[in-house]
Amino acid sequence: MTTSSNKTVTAVAHTNIALIKYWGKQDSELIIPYTSSLSLTLDQFYTQTSVQFNANLSEDRITIDDHVVTGTGSKRVHDFLELVRQESGLNLSAEVNSTNHVPTAAGLASSASAFAALAAAASKAAGMNLSLTDLSRLARRGSGSACRSIFGGFVEWQKGFDDASSFAVPIETRHLNDIRIVALTVEKHQKPVSSRKGMAFSVKTSPYYPTWIKVVDADLANIKAAIKDNDFTRFGTISELNAMRMHALTLSADPDFLYFTGDTLVAMNEVKRLRHSGIECYYTIDAGPNIKIICQQANVKVITDTFSTLFGPTKVTVAKPGPGVKYL
Ligand code: DP6
Repeated sequence: MTTSSNKTVTAVAHTNIALIKYWGKQDSELIIPYTSSLSLTLDQFYTQTSVQFNANLSEDRITIDDHVVTGTGSKRVHDFLELVRQESGLNLSAEVNSTNHVPTAAGLASSASAFAALAAAASKAAGMNLSLTDLSRLARRGSGSACRSIFGGFVEWQKGFDDASSFAVPIETRHLNDIRIVALTVEKHQKPVSSRKGMAFSVKTSPYYPTWIKVVDADLANIKAAIKDNDFTRFGTISELNAMRMHALTLSADPDFLYFTGDTLVAMNEVKRLRHSGIECYYTIDAGPNIKIICQQANVKVITDTFSTLFGPTKVTVAKPGPGVKYL
């Protein structure tokens, strides 16, 4: 067993937005999903994390955005470091320093970029030299969506059936590279039901969950074909449909729950209005009230102008496809 290491390793990972959503685990301990999913890594939102395992520390010291976090706030990070210690054989406490870079007021800090950066920095600081596939598997154990942030551009998380077979793979393509995501922050407050709790509750209580598993297979095959054919219309249509199908699993839970607010509905209607007026755009929504508008570069200006007028310019951020995980 290795007992010493004092290398500080810093990694940067970008967040991703799922176009075909992950919503439900068949194994909550290992984070093995019921369905595969597909995302786009974004250039605008990222987490930078440094990790050092240090013989002088008696316990893990975790700082996020310049605040030392303890107790329940640090439990997921601490559990993840335990896993890295187990897998590396290193028996030291760690100093973790993490900063989320999100544009002013975007409110989009995400567990995907956080655990992807932590997996990369911690595994390397512990002396593990993981392949990108193994790094994706490790990041998955922190937060499912984090396994996709190891890679840039379009990424598929292949659900697999156990720890070894569930990981993300990049979709190598030059197609749809003028795609843009206009992130609209209608609400900065934390979501009332976390994704983790919300998906577990949908699996347990929505009578439509078995149908979701079936339709995701078809949605995924269709969106991959749309990427291959460079077909933005089909790509956007399937993304919007899949997001609404996911949210139907919250509405059909018992008791039901809903991530949308009134402003979410206003924004959704505005996307449809623009689309019907010939400005092609679609929306997707995660486990919260904010919406991400999927469009192409040519329409970015009119879309950002429209939503800046409705909600204020500070609420609107434009993202492009972003890179995979990097070491500094
Ligand atoms: C709606 O990856 O945050 O964003 O695995 O429990 O940490 P855990 O969940 P998380 O869930 C993401 C849910 C989603 C859809 C998606 O990103 O695919």
